[in-house]
Amino acid sequence: MRAASFEGIRGGLAATGLRPSAARVKCLVLRLPVYSIARNFRVFVLALLPLLSCCFVAGAETGREAWLRYPPLAAAQKQPYASMPERIVVLGDSPLLLAARNELIRGLGSMLGRKFHPGEKMAPGTIVLGAAGSFADLRVPQKIEGDGFWLKSQSVNGAPGILVVGGSERAVLYGAFALLSRVARGRRLSALNELENPGARIRWVDQWDNLDGSIERGYSGRSIFFAGGKVREDLTLAGEYARLLASIGINGCNVNNVNANPRALESDFLPQVARIADAFRPWGVRLSLSVDLSSPKTIGGLDSFDPLDAKVIGWWKTKADEIYKLIPDFGGFTVKADSEGRVGPSSYGRTPADAANVLARALAPHGGVVFYRAFVYDHHLDWRDFKADRARAAYDIFHPLDGEFDENVIIQIKHGPIDFQAREPVSPLFGGLEKTNEAIELQVTQEYTGQQRHLVYLAPMWKEVLDFDMNRGDGRPEVAAGGKSAQGEEEKPQGSSWPVSDLVAGKIFHRPTGGYVAVVNAGRDRNWLAHPFAAANLYAYGRLAWNPSLTAREISEEWSRLTFGSDPAVVKTVADIAMRSWRAYESYTGFLGTQTLTDITGSHYGPNIESSEGNGWGQWHRADREGIGMDRSLATGTGYAGQYRPAVAKEYESVARTPDELLLFFHHVPYTRLLQSGKTVIQHVYDAHYDGAEEVAGFAREWKTLQGKIDRERYDDVLERLEYQAGHAIVWRDAICSYFLRLSGIPDGKGRAGNFPHRVEAENMTLDGYVPVGITPWENASGGKAVECRDRKSCSAWFRFSGTGGKREIDVEYFDQDNGASRFRVFVNGKKIDEWVADDRLPAKKMGGDSSTRRRMHDVNLLAGDEIRIEGTPQGEELAGIDYIEILPEPE
Ligand code: GCU
Repeated sequence: MRAASFEGIRGGLAATGLRPSAARVKCLVLRLPVYSIARNFRVFVLALLPLLSCCFVAGAETGREAWLRYPPLAAAQKQPYASMPERIVVLGDSPLLLAARNELIRGLGSMLGRKFHPGEKMAPGTIVLGAAGSFADLRVPQKIEGDGFWLKSQSVNGAPGILVVGGSERAVLYGAFALLSRVARGRRLSALNELENPGARIRWVDQWDNLDGSIERGYSGRSIFFAGGKVREDLTLAGEYARLLASIGINGCNVNNVNANPRALESDFLPQVARIADAFRPWGVRLSLSVDLSSPKTIGGLDSFDPLDAKVIGWWKTKADEIYKLIPDFGGFTVKADSEGRVGPSSYGRTPADAANVLARALAPHGGVVFYRAFVYDHHLDWRDFKADRARAAYDIFHPLDGEFDENVIIQIKHGPIDFQAREPVSPLFGGLEKTNEAIELQVTQEYTGQQRHLVYLAPMWKEVLDFDMNRGDGRPEVAAGGKSAQGEEEKPQGSSWPVSDLVAGKIFHRPTGGYVAVVNAGRDRNWLAHPFAAANLYAYGRLAWNPSLTAREISEEWSRLTFGSDPAVVKTVADIAMRSWRAYESYTGFLGTQTLTDITGSHYGPNIESSEGNGWGQWHRADREGIGMDRSLATGTGYAGQYRPAVAKEYESVARTPDELLLFFHHVPYTRLLQSGKTVIQHVYDAHYDGAEEVAGFAREWKTLQGKIDRERYDDVLERLEYQAGHAIVWRDAICSYFLRLSGIPDGKGRAGNFPHRVEAENMTLDGYVPVGITPWENASGGKAVECRDRKSCSAWFRFSGTGGKREIDVEYFDQDNGASRFRVFVNGKKIDEWVADDRLPAKKMGGDSSTRRRMHDVNLLAGDEIRIEGTPQGEELAGIDYIEILPEPE
C-alpha cells in the first residue's frame, strides 16, 4: 500500500517539475546525514498545495497575498542576486522542510524571474536548508534556539551558496521566509551572516470564530474555518492563513471564540477540527481550542463541572487523550471563565488555579499548555460605589495565586486593565506574577480602534506597552536603599528594569515559557482584514513578538516595501501616515485616558459618551458638570494605582506626576485643571478633537500624492476609506466637543466648538416630505436633530446659498445604515451635480454616530441665492436620513 501510494506521488511531483529528495545527499563541502523519504501521502499533498496555488498568477492586487506578493523585480533590482544559486537542497523531507523549499522556489522564482528547483546533490552553488542538527560539522556562531535561524552566505563547492539553518525544522521555514523578505526588500546577500532567535516562545493568534461561521468582533467577513455549525469542507484559506502567520514567525492559532461553544469538544466534532490542524501543520502553526469550563456537564453528561471533582478531572484527561489521538501536535486550551457571563470555578468556590491546573494536567503528558485569560471581572459592579473598580480585577484575582499554577499554564493578560481601549495604562499584573508564566494579549482586530474602517496602525501603542518598565529601573540594576552607584554617589532606592517584553518572555523571572497572543479575527474578505492597512497590524504583531526591539517605524517601512513596493516616496508616505494614525485616532475618540468614548453597550464604533456610565460594566469616566476622570489613587480613590510596583505606583498616585495622556484614568480633576502641556483639560478636549480630525483629513491628502505609484485597486480602496474616516472623525469631534461644551459650560477658547458658520441643518431647510427627528444620543447629530423620509417614495430638502460666490466644496452629512440602501441626489438650481447609494457596511440600524457619513462634492461653482436641493429615496428600513449640508471654501 505504502509503496504504491509513494509511486503515485512521485508521478505527481514529476508532473509539477519537482522530484522528491533522494535518500542521501552527497556533500563535498559539508557532510550531511542520511535522511529518509517522505512516507505519508497526506503530508506530501499538503506540502504541494502552495506550489499548485502559485500557478494561478495573481491578476489584480486584491491584498490576498498581503506581504507575500513576490512581485517580479526590475532588472536593476535583480542584479545583486544574479549569482544566487537556483538549486535548493533540503536536508530532510518533513512537510515543514518541503514547505520551506517550495516557498523559496515560488518566491525567488517570481521575484527573480528564474527557475529555482529542488536539488539532490551539493553541486557548486546551492541553497541548503536544514535543521542545525542535520548538518555535520556545522559551527553555528552563537546559540540557536528552537525557533531561531541562521542565514549564511557560504561557498558551496567553490560557487556562492546560502545556508538556511534552523534550530528546528519549523525554524528552517522561518529562515526561508526571512531570506525571501530580504530579497523582496532589496537587501544584499553577499555577506549574509544573520542569526535570529525569537523574542519569546509563545507567539500565537486567537480567532474569535463561532461554529456558525460568524466572528465575534470580526470586521472582514465570515470565518475561514467554520460554516453552519461545521468545519468548512474547503480549508484552502486556513492553509493560506497559516502560511501568512508562519511568514512572521507565529507558531500557534486558537481557532474558536473564547466565548466557547462546548460543541467544539464533542467527539463527532473533533475529527473536523483535526482537518484544520492538518492544514496548519506544514506551516508549523499549532492549533488550540477555546473551552467552556462547564463542558464536563454540558456535553459530558456529568452532574458537575467542579474542577476538583474526581469525575471532572477524569473527564478532562480522557478528552485530552482523545484530542491528541486526532491531533498529535495539539497546542492546548484557552479558557475564558467567570467573565462576562461565562461560568467558571467560582461556581464551586474554586480558584482559577484549581481550574487551570486540572486542564494543564490533562494536557501535560502530551506537551500541551493552558492559556488562562486574566480577563476575569464582575460586569455587575455598582456604579454608585466610588471604590468599585473593574481595572483592579485581574490583579486582585491573579496576584494572590502567583506560584499556584502548574508549569504549563500561561496567564494571558490583556495589555491594559480594561479592554483594548485606544489608551490604557499597562496592566499591573505583568509585574505581579513572579512564579507564573504570562503572555500579553493584544488586539489586531480593531474592536475599539475603528473596526478596520479607520486607519489605525497599532504598533506604536504596542511598543509603548512592551517597552514599559514595570519596575521603573530605567535600565539600571537594582540599588538597595541608601546604596551607592558605581561613581560612589548616593542613589535613591529604585527598582531594576522590568520591560513588559522581558516579563512576558519569562526573562525576568526565568519562566519556562510565555510570550504573545493577539486576537486577529481574519475573515474571508479578499484581503483578510478589510482595510488594506489593517494587515500592517498583523504584520507588526508578528514582527514584535519575534523581535520586540524593532521600532514601529522600521516595521511599517518593512511592511510597506513588501506590500506596495520599494518606491521611496511610497515607503515614506505610508510610514508617515501609519506612525501618526494611532495618536490621531486617540485624539478624536478618547482624551487624556478617559478610554474610548464609544458605545460600550452596543457597536463599540461611533461616539456614545454616556453609554459608559450608569451601568455595571465599569468603563466609567465619571464626567459631571465640574470635572471628569476616575480617582484610582490609593489615598482617596479605588486603590488601583497601588497595584503597580512602588516606583510606578508613586507616579500614578500623584495628580501632578501622572502623564497627561493617562491623567483621567487615574484622577478626577476639574475641567479647568492645567495639564503638564500648559492647557486646561477642557481646552485640550477641544484642541485634540480639532487637531485629530484635521490630521486625518491630511492623511487623505498625503495618500493622494501616491496616485500612480500604487496599483489602482489598493490606491482607490485606501483613499475611499481615508475620506470616509476624515468624515467620521468630524462626527466624533463634534459629538465630544458639543457634549463637553454643554456639560462644562466652558467655551472653546478658539471659538470652534458648537459654532458651525458654514453648516445648514437639514431640519432648518425647506422640507418636502422629510420630517425632523431627534437623534439619541443628541450629540451624535449636528444640533441633535436630523430629517428622515417616512411613508414616501422620495423626499427632498432645499435652501438658498447665502454666502459669497465662488468655487465651493459641498459636504452632505447623511446616514448610511446596514438595513437599507437609500439613494441621494443633489441639485444646484435644478441641475444634478451628484448622486449615490448609501450602501456601505457600517454597524448601524439607526441614524446616529455609527451611521453618520459624509459625501463630498468638489469644485462646485455657487452664486449667492443658488438653490441647493437634496433628494432622498429610502430603501428598506433606511429612511434616507440627512443631518446637514456644509459649504466650505475649496482648499488651496
Ligand atoms: C471584549 C469584547 C468581547 C469579548 C471580550 C473578551 O469585551 O467586546 O466580545 O468576548 O472582550 O476578550 O473575552
